[in-house]
Amino acid sequence: MAGTLFVIGAGQMGAGIAETAATHGLTVYLTDAVSEGLAQGIAGIETRLARSVDKGRMSAEDASAARARLHPVGSVTEVPGADIVVEAVVENEEVKRQLFVALDQYFPPETILASNTSSISITRLARVTARPHKVIGMHFMNPVPVMVLVEVIRGELTDDETVARVLDMAREMGKTPVEAHDYPGFVANRILMPMINEAIFALGEGVADRDAIDTVMKLGMNHPMGPLTLADFIGLDTCLAILQVLYEGFGDPKYRPAPLLKKMVDAGLYGRKTGRGFYQY
Ligand code: CAA
Ligand code: NAD
Repeated sequence: MAGTLFVIGAGQMGAGIAETAATHGLTVYLTDAVSEGLAQGIAGIETRLARSVDKGRMSAEDASAARARLHPVGSVTEVPGADIVVEAVVENEEVKRQLFVALDQYFPPETILASNTSSISITRLARVTARPHKVIGMHFMNPVPVMVLVEVIRGELTDDETVARVLDMAREMGKTPVEAHDYPGFVANRILMPMINEAIFALGEGVADRDAIDTVMKLGMNHPMGPLTLADFIGLDTCLAILQVLYEGFGDPKYRPAPLLKKMVDAGLYGRKTGRGFYQY
């Protein structure tokens, strides 16, 4: 049952969600507040589609059909309709709330409004709409075309029909959904972020250098990336935002963000997306 998805935010996550949906037969509208951001997102998708053709993973016809299903739009008013809207804008509750207010006004009451948030309360985002039963977390993992998991988060008032539709949509996109309840960081980041934060504390305290910390976790625990490489990959701004949600949400000092992480974000060193974090890109 191919449907229509509207993805907001064409950064690494939004572009990945749009690409995955389009390659699985869905019609996709994609927008971003910044026009260069949208252009970069589309260009990245085109590059990856071409690479898939070169590598024999996809036929040229399937790649061009996927591209034809993908429609960049300048604003929500250009979207004729959607089964599900997924927002993947910056990890900031105020920005997401304002967006949900606008989406609730524009889309008919049956449209599902989903957030790709890493940590923010789905229940609180739902509260600003007149359809809290249709608001849900649809948390893809980075890089979206590769990672199989989608964490599906039920807000306090999300109804069963909405959960069932989003589980189906995740499967249509070739993903394996797992349900979680609405607690800060849900499952994925409640477990992942304390590990990344601890690695940054260890670096800041001089326990070992950057390469040693990453090597211990890669070779010692078989992680595909060391925690500092992974933090750069996720975005240090996003890691800090998630840790702040955990820290404030649980009121437990074990989640306090490492001072070195704060300092790097203050300096604009966000990792791969700005060209420098723990590593240079
Ligand atoms: N976008 C799309 N596809 C990508 C990609 C990207 N950014 N990076 C890699 N890939 C794909 C490519 O298709 C590549 O295959 P081809 O070379 O054949 O095209 C394939 O992945 C393998 O890539 P590489 O050989 O370059 O590198 P690798 O074997 O080390 O794999 C990786 C890369 C899949 C990213 C792997 O390092 C990995 O699994 N890292 C951990 C990722 C992870 O933990 N993600 C979760 C982050 S946390 C999160 O998402 C939640 C949150 O809220 C913060
Ligand atoms: P990003 O910085 O790569 O992209 C965010 C994009 O949103 C930017 O292009 C920005 O211009 C755009 N944007 C900001 N405000 C907007 C608005 N009001 N309307 C439209 N576009 C707007 O960030 P990202 O890594 O793609 O993260 C996006 C979301 O996905 C966040 O909520 C993040 O927590 C979540 N997430 C991130 C990861 C990850 O590994 N980076 C994994 C899972 C979930």
